[in-house]
Amino acid sequence: MFVAVCAFFLIVAGGLVTSNNAGLAVPDWPTSFGSLVRMPRMIGGVKFEHGHRMIAEFVGLLTIMIAAWTWLADQRRWMRILTAGAVLGVIAQGVIGGIGVRELLPPWVSTMHATFGQTMFCTLAAIAVFTSRSWMDEPEEKMDRKDAAPLLRHCWMLIWFLYLQLILGAAFRHVWTKWGPF
Ligand code: HEM
Repeated sequence: MFVAVCAFFLIVAGGLVTSNNAGLAVPDWPTSFGSLVRMPRMIGGVKFEHGHRMIAEFVGLLTIMIAAWTWLADQRRWMRILTAGAVLGVIAQGVIGGIGVRELLPPWVSTMHATFGQTMFCTLAAIAVFTSRSWMDEPEEKMDRKDAAPLLRHCWMLIWFLYLQLILGAAFRHVWTKWGPF
């Protein structure tokens, strides 16, 4: 739950980068103003952009810890695969953010970064649910696969609609911040 809450703040921090038009306040990546360790002066847009990178690194580190913990303590194979996937996802998300900076924020890269960022948040929230007591306890009632089929179909449909909405919303936001009358 702690990691999922941190990821939520990371999403907010990312949104602040875009909303303050600060995406290029730090012009290089993976370094920040030429250094991997030196903290730049946190002024103007730099506080949003570099702050977002620092929170992202923290969430990345926490995700690696969750994966290591899961591999040690959780016998469920799919959970191990899910947490390993979360590590790869967090790395990919950082690289997409970095490519955005290096390529001067093409709207399609920023849209991908925004959409995939929320996918990462959902993945970490799902890991919190799958490790919760209520999920692990034996359910009082069970539904057989056939009865569950319509529910499952509707869940998938909802996910596709949510993605459509996410992509359209992010695309509008990034085309607008780049070319809109600001
Ligand atoms: C797990 C890691 C990360 C997550 C979950 C994440 C998430 C986000 C989100 C949700 C946004 C807001 C998009 C929007 O407002 O539409 C954003 C913006 C941004 N992020 Fe990340 N981010 C991560 C890592 C990084 C890293 C490592 C960089 C390194 C450069 C980065 C660079 C940016 C930039 C430049 C923007 C602004 C894009 C624009 O305005 O066009 N992000 N991020």
